Amino acid sequence: MIKAAIVGGSGYTGVELLRILHRHPHVEVVSVTSRKHAGTPVASLFPSLSSVYTLKFQAPDIPALSRSCDVVFTAVPHQTAMSIVPELLAEGTKVIDLSADFRIRDRAVYEAWYVPHTAPELLDEAVYGLTEIYREKVAGARLVANPGCYPTSAILPLYPLLKEGLVAGEGIVVDSKSGTSGAGRSASLATIFCEVNEAFKAYKVGEHRHTPEIEQELSAAANKETVINFTPHLVPMSRGILTTIYAQTAEGVTTGDVLTALADYYAGARFVRIRPEGEFPNVSHVRGSNFCDIGAKVDQRTGRAILVSAIDNLVKGASGQAVQNMNIMFGLEEAAGLDALALFP
Ligand SMILES: NC(=O)c1ccc[n+]([C@@H]2O[C@H](COP(=O)([O-])OP(=O)(O)OC[C@H]3O[C@@H](n4cnc5c(N)ncnc54)[C@H](OP(=O)(O)O)[C@@H]3O)[C@@H](O)[C@H]2O)c1
Repeated sequence: MIKAAIVGGSGYTGVELLRILHRHPHVEVVSVTSRKHAGTPVASLFPSLSSVYTLKFQAPDIPALSRSCDVVFTAVPHQTAMSIVPELLAEGTKVIDLSADFRIRDRAVYEAWYVPHTAPELLDEAVYGLTEIYREKVAGARLVANPGCYPTSAILPLYPLLKEGLVAGEGIVVDSKSGTSGAGRSASLATIFCEVNEAFKAYKVGEHRHTPEIEQELSAAANKETVINFTPHLVPMSRGILTTIYAQTAEGVTTGDVLTALADYYAGARFVRIRPEGEFPNVSHVRGSNFCDIGAKVDQRTGRAILVSAIDNLVKGASGQAVQNMNIMFGLEEAAGLDALALFP
């Protein structure tokens, strides 16, 4: 059995890792950390895990975790991750970091959008864990930078189309709507019931930190610098992201061309489902599952491809993709532990 630990196990991505890893045939979770809840049984904080997990939260002891585990998931805020990952790696464990700290390859770009980086020596080594695109690099990685939720929903539909030159890199618009678990479990005014219920708003317009992450990967696909407009929205649901993308098509490109290119690129990909022509994704078809559903139409009047994707932000957008990456890093079946279908309806 692979011994796994979760640093930051009392948050939303942490409890999602526990939910997913419970079904995993080759993984045993041996330690889960929380500073605030140290000593509390995991099942007391999360009754959904009662009679399944007998573990108690522990205060993080990074050297001890590194010595006793084969893999550590760091499900902590950015800046915290960069302060613990070097020590975890030094003792030989593998790390899958769910924060943004190792996603941006260019230190200056990271620091322009986030904070000064205290472990820049690891930026070259970290593998961006968008599994369907970097599967081979993930297989040999010590440190995987698990992608952000919005970036997963934006990059998966666009990457093959930019690579094949079916859409232009210029003028791409990414419009995303997310459930409130995307903001984590800490209390904040913006995510309390009365602020979110019956409400629907854009936030961080033109300045969301996932913008450079999306641009980094789209630039790699297009083989030239690509900038986008990205607008996230908060919708009154617990989980799920629906992203709608507008991109100028090359001359003569049809809906059929776009759908064929997507289907070809993701032919062997278990967790990407391309919807048939005329059908579009719905977050309720992926909730609780590791799937990313993608639909597409080319509007011949405007010459734009309209791409729609749906993911569960806590699964394909975080903990599910993290487990998918772990499976590849340890040579396991990519879908191990990830066979849950959507909770529909
Ligand atoms: N929520 C999503 O949809 C989503 C999707 C993709 C990626 N992510 C990323 O995944 C990470 C976790 O997100 P989340 O939504 O699970 O956050 P969360 O619900 O706020 O949980 C954060 C966890 O980190 C721990 N923590 C906070 N500061 C710490 C520190 N200095 N040292 C050790 N542990 C610390 C917290 O426990 P204690 O404070 O008790 O120690 C808690 O368990 C973030 O970087 C986030 O950006 C989130």
